Amino acid sequence: MSALPVIATADARRVVEEAKRRRTFAIISHPDAGKTTLTEKLLLYAGAVGEAGSVTARKGRKAATSDWMELERRRGISVTSTVLRFEHDGVVFNLLDTPGHKDFSEDTLRVLAAVDCAVILVDAARGVEPQTEQLFRVARARGIPLLAFVNKYDRPGLEPLEMLDHLTDTLELPLAPLTWPVGIPGAFRGVIDRRDDTFHRFERTTGGAGIAPERIMNARGQGDAEDDAAWAVAEEELELVDEVGSAFDLDAFLRGEQIPLLFGSAAWNFGVGLLLGVIRDLAPPALPRPADDGTPRPVDDPFAALVFKVQANMDPRHRDRVAFIRINSGRFERGMRVTNARTGRTLALSFAHEVFGQDRSSLDEAFPGDVVGVVIGGDVRVGDTLFIGSTVHFPPIPTLTPESFVTISNRDVGRHKQFHRGLEQLDQEGVIHVLRRAHNQDPVPVLGGVGPMQFEVAVERLKTEFGADVHTQMLPWAAARRTDAEGAIKVLADPGATDVFVRGDGTHLAVFPNRFVLERFAQRNPNVQLDRLIGAD
Ligand code: G4P
Repeated sequence: MSALPVIATADARRVVEEAKRRRTFAIISHPDAGKTTLTEKLLLYAGAVGEAGSVTARKGRKAATSDWMELERRRGISVTSTVLRFEHDGVVFNLLDTPGHKDFSEDTLRVLAAVDCAVILVDAARGVEPQTEQLFRVARARGIPLLAFVNKYDRPGLEPLEMLDHLTDTLELPLAPLTWPVGIPGAFRGVIDRRDDTFHRFERTTGGAGIAPERIMNARGQGDAEDDAAWAVAEEELELVDEVGSAFDLDAFLRGEQIPLLFGSAAWNFGVGLLLGVIRDLAPPALPRPADDGTPRPVDDPFAALVFKVQANMDPRHRDRVAFIRINSGRFERGMRVTNARTGRTLALSFAHEVFGQDRSSLDEAFPGDVVGVVIGGDVRVGDTLFIGSTVHFPPIPTLTPESFVTISNRDVGRHKQFHRGLEQLDQEGVIHVLRRAHNQDPVPVLGGVGPMQFEVAVERLKTEFGADVHTQMLPWAAARRTDAEGAIKVLADPGATDVFVRGDGTHLAVFPNRFVLERFAQRNPNVQLDRLIGAD
């Protein structure tokens, strides 16, 4: 055998080994459930940061597209990116950011296309909030393995059995508690680790800055009388759970059919180490991902990656665009030339940067499961596949059907070009739907989004990045479904006040003033295609 194939094999083996030790995940939650705090504490437990910063008052904080901006401000580190990568116990974690606010759930949906697992973070008092249910439904539909972490158990909240009930009802999947709280909400002492029936008794540290001292007990009498009493109550509850609940089943979890459940307090650092350990031990590594013909692409195939986010001008000093790619196979090398499967054009991934901890520290190589930001010029869009070797396409990323619409017009005729360039940019990023009316040649574009805050961001960006002064006007539509050309004709003919918009890619969106009109239309027209997600098939 010649030397070349041997090198190739050694390389392939290395890619397989690296893929095996990747854990790529996101935390999805409602704002204020504690995602920023938990992120920071996971970094603390992984040894990626020293002391956790003291949590400062953030009342009146405006919802941002990234909660990490807050983390960045608080810790004085640069986390302007989409991914935090840290290594612990031989495992490389890629934690992807998701904005908490409902108006940015589109971003979360795209992140879900890039992760192998998601942690559902729930506030112990508020439970799963309706705004985030849609995301859980999407995650479930995609079969992503899900873990649930009930946070803020140090404060009064639902009893654990009530919480289990509530989660089972709202998430519509069986939950398997891996840990169980000891001590009532508000007098939280620690958790039972059900895998070995030990009681992890935690002590608070001042301000939650350091790792919480922990005693692991396996029999009564090792702690104080109150510990014993609280432990006994927790065990009684667990007997009930055992009778009616489901035991943890690794395969069911990996298929996304059962949710392991953990309890804790991110602020006090209770249960955070256990959560990190569970992600390390149970969450899947980077596995072969199916191409659009359904064939799984082995991780040691030549390089291929999915673009799941395009962000413009992240750094005002470098007016560039960054594409965030999830590597699905092969080894990423800085400077490598790849082909975009949609356009057939080649491009150099000339500069990759990892933004955690440092400013634009360059990254020389990355492996399946990793997410990297590459600076791009030219036509690269969300959903594009970049590859070397023979052509591969990964399936399109579905988008949520918008529920809010505005017309957008340019106030300054002299900046017509900038206006259109800006709209094209927003459309390419996939952040907002740029639409036009289907039934006439009305030139005024329409923007569609999940919530009004997206429009504010769009208007601001058109102004600051493209110098376009725009005017928006809210349209009266609050429900929409994807339909086809035939469906569009039926919708336009309907006596109810409805309209149809078309996206650049030809997708038709039927819009309705509210859910009731939509449902009535659906009942009257059972044969008309009305889908919740765009590009879901
Ligand atoms: P988010 O990113 O999901 O929006 O949540 P974030 O971490 O910013 O936390 C929201 C609030 O919840 C913060 O309080 C934070 O301190 C608090 N928090 C997070 N985890 C826990 C927990 O385990 N227990 C308790 N009791 N609180 C927790 P805040 O009022 O916004 O700020 P501050 O007054 O605490 O500084």
